[in-house]
Amino acid sequence: MSFAKSKLPNVGTTIFTVMSALANEHKAINLSQGFPDFEVDAKLIDLVHQAMRQGYNQYAPMPGYMPLREMIAEKLYHTYNIEVNPDTEITITSGGTEALFDAIQAIVKPDDEVIIFDPAYDCYAPAVKLAGGKVVSIPLNPPHFSLDWNSIKASIHEKTVAILLNTPHNPTGTILKEADIQNLIEIIKNTNLYLISDEVYEHLVFDNQIHHSVLRYPQLRQRSFAIYSFGKTFHTTGWKIGYCVAPPELTQEFRKIHQFVTFASPSFVQVAYAAYLKDPEHYLTIPHFYQRKRDIFRKLLQENTQFDVLPCEGSYFQLVSYQRITDEPDTEFAIRMTKEIGVAAIPVSVFYQNQEQNRLLRFCFAKKEDTLHSAAERLSKL
Ligand SMILES: Cc1ncc(COP(=O)(O)O)c(C=O)c1O
Repeated sequence: MSFAKSKLPNVGTTIFTVMSALANEHKAINLSQGFPDFEVDAKLIDLVHQAMRQGYNQYAPMPGYMPLREMIAEKLYHTYNIEVNPDTEITITSGGTEALFDAIQAIVKPDDEVIIFDPAYDCYAPAVKLAGGKVVSIPLNPPHFSLDWNSIKASIHEKTVAILLNTPHNPTGTILKEADIQNLIEIIKNTNLYLISDEVYEHLVFDNQIHHSVLRYPQLRQRSFAIYSFGKTFHTTGWKIGYCVAPPELTQEFRKIHQFVTFASPSFVQVAYAAYLKDPEHYLTIPHFYQRKRDIFRKLLQENTQFDVLPCEGSYFQLVSYQRITDEPDTEFAIRMTKEIGVAAIPVSVFYQNQEQNRLLRFCFAKKEDTLHSAAERLSKL
């Protein structure tokens, strides 16, 4: 039976699934989807096994395993110098994706508008549309992709319910600066706007810059859902555990959705992360770990290929321009590159609502050094 009225008529299978499948089919090096190809810390794996053996195999509490929420509160105190109540302000979710969905469903009503910056991670817009809301896209332009505060201000009116931020940003690798935060504080001062702040790459900020979490700024924190992912921080994207930090009144609404989307996330993984978080070194070393990979990969691309390498201040994504190589549209080029050269990347047009063509590809450098070297060698043939 054909489906007469799709709720998401323009949504197909995500490009991440498509490119990963193509990479597998052609035995290409997969620098498309954002996941590491190196091992998870054996200590963390042991903690998971231990938790399963100790009997943590049934439903976790709906808002999350309390000792994990307590460790997150401690981590937030150390990283952002803020006091967060683990009981009323932290909810464990099945990845950042679920947290984003829950936050959007909690606040967006039919005809409400949500401001999203284009290019954007692909799960935001469908969640807004499912809630009956409208996406208002504001472009970020290459090569700096900075926020245009005048257009943001001009786009806010009575139907605007939220702004969706993402720092460090996927796919561009930019981060919000202090001046952005001050502009944001100023713009929302006399509004009832909510902020949904996707900070899943909070620890992947380079060159001694700091991560400007909305949680650091009381004027922002009081209206924010701040969203995180242990998958990104601890190289465990397949375990799908994230969390949302929000003031008690927002958390209450958030949990109304969370309880009917997943009810609770895997218990033994939560128990393991709670123990693993006792050593802050496990997350404090992350910026250096990824900065090294970024530097190696950028140098390899600059010295061996015809790509122009754009700035990368955070995240584990590197954008490159291929305008010196070809004028093919980006999806066509990405598919050809996977098949003929054996390296898969994501065409950046898929992150734009209007599929804008800037001749850019996104590579993920969360890979072993060997993988990055082999990819660069293949890419040098372009
Ligand atoms: C910007 C951004 N937000 C959220 C997510 C999803 O996080 P999770 O895997 O924890 O659901 C991703 C994953 O790639 C991402 O890049």
